[in-house]
Amino acid sequence: MEKDINELKKIIAKSDRITVLTGAGISAESGVPTFRGSGGIWRNYQVTDVATPQAFARDPELVWEFYNWRRKLISKVTFNPGHKALVELEKHVNDFTLITQNVDGLHREAGNRRFLEIHGNLWVVRCTKCGMLTMDRSQDMGRLPKCTKCGGLLRPNVVWFGESLNPDILGKAIDAARNCELMLIVGTSAIVQPAASLAFKAKAAGAELAEINIERTPQSGQMDFVLTGKAGEILPMLVENYER
Ligand code: OAD
Ligand code: ZN
Repeated sequence: MEKDINELKKIIAKSDRITVLTGAGISAESGVPTFRGSGGIWRNYQVTDVATPQAFARDPELVWEFYNWRRKLISKVTFNPGHKALVELEKHVNDFTLITQNVDGLHREAGNRRFLEIHGNLWVVRCTKCGMLTMDRSQDMGRLPKCTKCGGLLRPNVVWFGESLNPDILGKAIDAARNCELMLIVGTSAIVQPAASLAFKAKAAGAELAEINIERTPQSGQMDFVLTGKAGEILPMLVENYER
């Protein structure tokens, strides 16, 4: 793997266009639970109870209880060396895009600016009646939070299963996948669409692909580099040349 890391560092150093796709694994070392695998959120919660539009229509209190639990948990943690390494990368790469499936906001908190939150953001709420978006960092939004403008029921501004991604954001993510020379795929199980297909779009357009994960994924076979280990350890190694 050391050879792979050195080889990848060289590619990073000469790439003008790098796109990164992150998933829950990059926040795992911050103490945010991932969704799948041992200790994963979907072991304790049913997707169909808390993360679909039907669930919200049926039992918005239960859905809010789940999101209040996540708000509380995430408000206690902070970004880790993996996030910081991507800030460093953004500083040094001309054409840099960070696509994240995470809703925790830790990439922004770490200092990245060129990111696309394709599954939304936990700290933004949307009125189900008038559509108003509001940033609200409360740890607890209460049982059934209401819009200050129209009194409508608020929901988290995240993408639930069965919902479409924001077409503008998805379009930008697809462009970033198609235009890059190198795509780093970090801490994602690479099974939720359309995020998972971005790597194939990048590869089809000629990019090299590098996966950073503690285990192999269904996409590992398509990768030019498979670096097995923690994002918080491998990403800092990849950018260490930049630091002085
Ligand atoms: P998953 O929980 O499916 O996958 C997390 C991945 O991170 C796994 O492949 C782990 O092996 C890896 N991992 C864990 N710790 C790591 C570490 N320290 N360093 C590197 N890798 C590590 O999370 P996602 O792939 O992000 O969607 O899941 C995708 C989407 O499914 C989420 O955005 C969410 C979820 O249901 C919605 O809620 C719409
Ligand atoms: Zn409203």
